Amino acid sequence: MSTSDSSGYSSTAQTHAGYEPEGPHRSIAVPIHATTAYAAESHQQLKDLFARRRDGYAYSRSGNPTTCVLERRVAALEGGIGAIAVASGQAAVAVGILGLVAPGDHLVAASRLYGGTVEFFDDSLADAGVTWSAADPWDLAAVEAAFTDRTRVLFVESIANPGAQLADIPALADIAHRHDAVLVVDNTVASPALLRPGALGADVVIHSATKYLGGHGAALAGVVVDTGRFDPRRCPALFPRLTSPNSRFGVTFSDEYARGASGYLAYARAKYLTDFGATLPAHSASLLLAGIETLDLRMERISTTTAQLAAALREHPLVARVHHPSSPGRPDAGIARRDFPRGTSGVFAIDLVGGEAAAEAFLDALELVTLAVNIGDSRSLAVHPGSTTHCHLTPSQRAACGVSEGTVRLSIGLEDPSDLRADLEQALVTAAAVAERAESASAAEPDVRELARARA
Ligand SMILES: Cc1ncc(COP(=O)(O)O)c(C=O)c1O
Repeated sequence: MSTSDSSGYSSTAQTHAGYEPEGPHRSIAVPIHATTAYAAESHQQLKDLFARRRDGYAYSRSGNPTTCVLERRVAALEGGIGAIAVASGQAAVAVGILGLVAPGDHLVAASRLYGGTVEFFDDSLADAGVTWSAADPWDLAAVEAAFTDRTRVLFVESIANPGAQLADIPALADIAHRHDAVLVVDNTVASPALLRPGALGADVVIHSATKYLGGHGAALAGVVVDTGRFDPRRCPALFPRLTSPNSRFGVTFSDEYARGASGYLAYARAKYLTDFGATLPAHSASLLLAGIETLDLRMERISTTTAQLAAALREHPLVARVHHPSSPGRPDAGIARRDFPRGTSGVFAIDLVGGEAAAEAFLDALELVTLAVNIGDSRSLAVHPGSTTHCHLTPSQRAACGVSEGTVRLSIGLEDPSDLRADLEQALVTAAAVAERAESASAAEPDVRELARARA
């Protein structure tokens, strides 16, 4: 039994979904099944498991009871029909996308994405024979124009990392579905406590659970959720890997839908999770389950603090721009009002006057906020995306993500908002001095063209 709010989100599910105390001890916390394999009751049982004639556990690379509770819990929070937990968010993107495409297929993706996702699309996905085109997700005509007859997936982040630009999920779902494509939404930054993409039309939801789901910076993890909207049987010729008999496994994966399960996830688990071995350890699943119990409380607190800090930073003379949905003139203000009544999470970016030198001085001067390459921690973190998370992107890809030389990404945590504000302000004072010195040095530098003219 669980009560949900108007978005369908249930805080009861955070602590209960997917687990019933059982066994002789009826342990309240989900037990950690630290095991590689499971003793079979008979040879026949193992044969049936491998032949996919029955469900159960044989070997932890493709399934573990602790991890399975995490899968059921995240599926419940996202309102999905199932989920696969994997070793990291990057693995979730890879397994989630590869489960939908075949060589020769095409993917359309938002031009504003986490750098690691762009690198995967540009490099390893291209090696698998799948091409992609980037389009500004706020320009719906451009998104639609990027589709080809081989486009199987539209991929966006619900809140983009690092600029916190919000995606119009219902409009993007319409476009994807008009083209019989699957809308995959990376919901890492929002988390289901702020936004449930499935309720707005998304077919698949991806998480780097390393971030807000876990929430304490203690474990890497990823999750792929099937929201139950995608049914490849509606257009079997477009998804032959799901709808045709699979000679390796001896089944047609889309048959799973007839029993209310996800054929897509069954395929992704059997093939990609098993082949790549991107398995989430049971200990990590346990840390994630503990983090999820407080997800909605953390997200509300973090979103409120972040909006306050974004407003304060907008007033600072050294801050040229604050990338947050509350900034004046942001085209996503309407999406924030319509789809994000509880706030827009804790990731945002600021552009500092004085470029990378000012950003470096600012980061080195921070005392409470930690200089670290992660987001979604209970501790506040900061980083220079241009030289870290987005450093392998081309300059135009970086510009499309809103990342410039002076951009600093902040991920706000659970500290006292006034302590955070004081730390950011004292670091800005240091950065201002550096920016001023750099400006007066460049003003004092003789103009080379003047010198050349004088010599001539
Ligand atoms: C939006 C987003 N998706 C995916 C990932 C990859 O997740 P992980 O670092 O857990 O592999 C990240 C990492 O920062 C991210 O920010």
